[in-house]
This record gives sequence, structure tokens and C-alpha cells, in this order.
Amino acid sequence: MAKKLFIKTFGCQMNVYDSARMEDALSEAGFEAAASPEGADMVVLNTCHIREKAAEKVYSELGRLRQLQMQKTEADGGRMLIAVAGCVAQAEGEEILARAPYVDIVLGPQTYHRLPAMVEQVTQEDGARAIDINFPAEDKFDHLPEEFAGQGISAFLTIQEGCDRFCTFCVVPYTRGAEKSRSSVAVIDEARRLVATGSREITLLGQNVNAYHGDGPDGKPWGLGRLIRELAEIDGLWRLRYTTSHPKDMDDELIEAHHNLPKLMPLLHLPVQSGSDRVLAAMNRRHTADDYRRLVDKLRDARPDLALSSDFIVGFPGESDADFARTLRLVSDIGYAQAYSFKYSPRPGTPAAGSEEQLPEDVRRDRLESLQQLLRSQQQAFNQEQLGRTLPVLIEGEGRTMGQLVGRSPFLQPVHFDAPVHRIGQLTEVRIDEVLSNSLRGTLLDVIPQRATV
Ligand code: 5AD
Ligand code: SF4
Repeated sequence: MAKKLFIKTFGCQMNVYDSARMEDALSEAGFEAAASPEGADMVVLNTCHIREKAAEKVYSELGRLRQLQMQKTEADGGRMLIAVAGCVAQAEGEEILARAPYVDIVLGPQTYHRLPAMVEQVTQEDGARAIDINFPAEDKFDHLPEEFAGQGISAFLTIQEGCDRFCTFCVVPYTRGAEKSRSSVAVIDEARRLVATGSREITLLGQNVNAYHGDGPDGKPWGLGRLIRELAEIDGLWRLRYTTSHPKDMDDELIEAHHNLPKLMPLLHLPVQSGSDRVLAAMNRRHTADDYRRLVDKLRDARPDLALSSDFIVGFPGESDADFARTLRLVSDIGYAQAYSFKYSPRPGTPAAGSEEQLPEDVRRDRLESLQQLLRSQQQAFNQEQLGRTLPVLIEGEGRTMGQLVGRSPFLQPVHFDAPVHRIGQLTEVRIDEVLSNSLRGTLLDVIPQRATV
């Protein structure tokens, strides 16, 4: 009988992708995904270290899992293996083993291909525990199992990992390591496999995805623009996205891809973090607010319907009221369709954490509130603009109520409408009749013809 596996994923989409890879690797070792951790033979927490709150969640989650682990032993004498994976494991592996003696396995993001061997190791020896937070010389992507479950209509594909930019607030260069791109051949091959299992939309992932420079078939490095041009040729693949980008790595070839390739969706996540040049310099972002404005102008020239999304950090050490006002001004100038904003959170080992100009919590909180208010109103205005329009919607599944399906607009807005289930997987036109707080509601019109051969 298959052993039950439950993976809980925290943090970014790269973790979602990694969790799917761990599931593939463990399915070869006889595990099958379960819907809940109760009674599972193995539970993996795939963790995130980006902000303090994210890391704290791991320990409270572990406390809950310890209860389930004991209940399982009481109920059927069985053992529930607990593994902690991801960036908290990378950063605090030894500490986790010390603080949570019931954790069996700790592994960092670079060693997922070794997970089945680690499971074997801890199950063979009584009381054995395993930790692997190395940055191995071999490539974890070379160990993708032949069999893979596929990810459904909309899939993630990691093409690049790690980061060399060293923004002074960020743990990623330490937890995910140096920037590394997969070869274009490996990426195209995986994209084809995803399309063959029914995926129609692929989001290319990387911590700094537009720094992509994987080897091309000719041995020369390909940039992201070149790679996307090639992926857009795949029949049966209808939509492409990529995330997350650094403004300094937005080259002309990539901007051109936004102009030339209708498959590249017109929503771009382009984090700016702050609108103040002083803060941007202290963050080591290596561009000014005006550089960013000019870049957005160029992108909008290339693709006039391009919608923008961003990340912001408020209350960075030393940020003055005037600096923060510049962030608000930048947001007003750009006009975002959606955005993520965070209070600065000092991360151990990063340069900004050592700054003596840390701001009080109430200042950070108040600034976050006013920024989010502005961003919310922009998002509502953007959603409101869709009213009465007809949008192409990729239908992903059933909605919450009977007879309703849900899909995504080009701008990632969830769109609900009535339609029979056999239409799941189609790309259709939907007229938007109503704008709700986080989604749109509409009426199904025609299917948009696509080259559907795989
Ligand atoms: N504090 C607050 N937000 C952070 N981010 C990264 N590090 C920190 C930190 N120390 C945010 C940035 C980044 C997003 C993924 O998380 O905005 O773009
Ligand atoms: Fe972190 Fe992104 Fe800066 Fe890299 S570019 S250090 S991942 S915030």
C-alpha cells in the first residue's frame, strides 16, 4: 500500500514548484500525496525565511505536527516522519534539530533529489536523523524523475535559482545561494513535458528570473527574452509568464518579447521596493526611481496594455517621512494593477539588519497602512476598468458554487462565470459584468481558437 505523504508549502512560488518536485521524487519511493497531515507516514514542511513572521510559522507548525506524530504512534504504532525543507532549513538547520528533537530530516533547497535516500537512511536506523544543507556540486535539476505528475492547466517551471544581487535586506543570496540558470534545452524539454500533460500556461520562475542566462543549444548563453521566444513556439502552450524580476536585468530583448509575443501575458511583476533614491541606494538596488519610471515607459511603449505589479518594503532602516512620500509618489505615477507590500523585517546575516537606524514598529505599521490603502485603491480602479470588457480567460476549474467555473484573465484576476465542466482547460472570451473585491464575474462567450496540437 502506498505510504501517505503530506507537504505543506510556505512562501514563494519557487517553493510550490519545489514541493511538486519533492512529491515526484518521493512517489518513486512509494509515497502518495494525501490531503491532510492526519495519519500521514511523512510530512514535509517546505519553509520560507524571507521575513521574520514567515520563519516563526515553522516552529508553531512543528508543535502541531508533534501532536499528530504522537497520535499516529498511539493509534497504529506507526511512525510519522517529519521533514523540514526550504529556506528556514537552509538557514537554521542545526537549530531546528536542536529545538525540535522529533524532526527526522532537515534539507535545504538544493538537495531535494537526495530526499528519498535520506528517508531510507532514517527509516533503516532506529532514532536516526538526517540533515543536508549543502550546496552540492551536482545539479538537483539533473535528477528530475522521468515520471512526473504534471501540474494541471497552469504550471510553474523553475528556470533559475539563487541571486547575486545582494540587496541589503534580503536573505535569498544566502539561503538559495549564487545565481544559477538551467540550460535552455532542459527548460524547453520540461515545458514540452508539461504541455504534454495538459498544461496550457507556464509561469517561469526564478528568484531573479530575468537574470536568466542559461546555455543555449549553440553553447552560448541565452537571455530570458530569447528563451521566451523559443518557448512561445510550442504548440499547445497558450500563455507564458515569468516572475520575479529585477529592474536592472530588464534588457531590450526581453522588452521586445513583450512587444512581439502575444503569448507573453501583459502583467509584469517588477519589484521596485522604494521610490526614494536614498533608500534604493541603501538597499543596494543600483537604480534610481527615475530609472524605474523610464523603464516602465519603455515597457508600456512595447506593450500598451501592460499592467504592473510590484513589491514594496516600508520602514527600511533610515527611511524618513520624505523618503516614504517619494514611494507614495512613485506608486501614484506608475499606477499598479496589484502589489505586495511589507514592513521591513531585519533578517539575520543581512547588512541592513546591522544598521543602527532601525525604525520603530509604529512608524513601519503606519506607513504600511497608508501605502496599502493607496495600492488597494489602484487595484480596485484597475479591476473596475475591466467592467463591460471582453477578456480572454483560461478556464482552470470549478468555482465555489454549483455550475460555476473559474479561470484567469491575462492580468491574473480570477474570473467566475456559469459554464459546464467540460469547458475546463479552454481559453474562452468572457464578458465582465461585475467587479467584486478580489475577482470578476462574467458571461461566457466564444472559445478562442488555438493551435491545440501538442
Ligand atoms: N523585510 C521585508 N520585506 C522583505 N522582502 C525581502 N526581504 C525582506 C525583508 N527583510 C520582500 C521584498 C521582496 C519580497 C519577495 O519580499 O519586497 O521583493
Ligand atoms: Fe533578494 Fe531579489 Fe534582491 Fe536578489 S534581487 S537579493 S532575491 S530582493
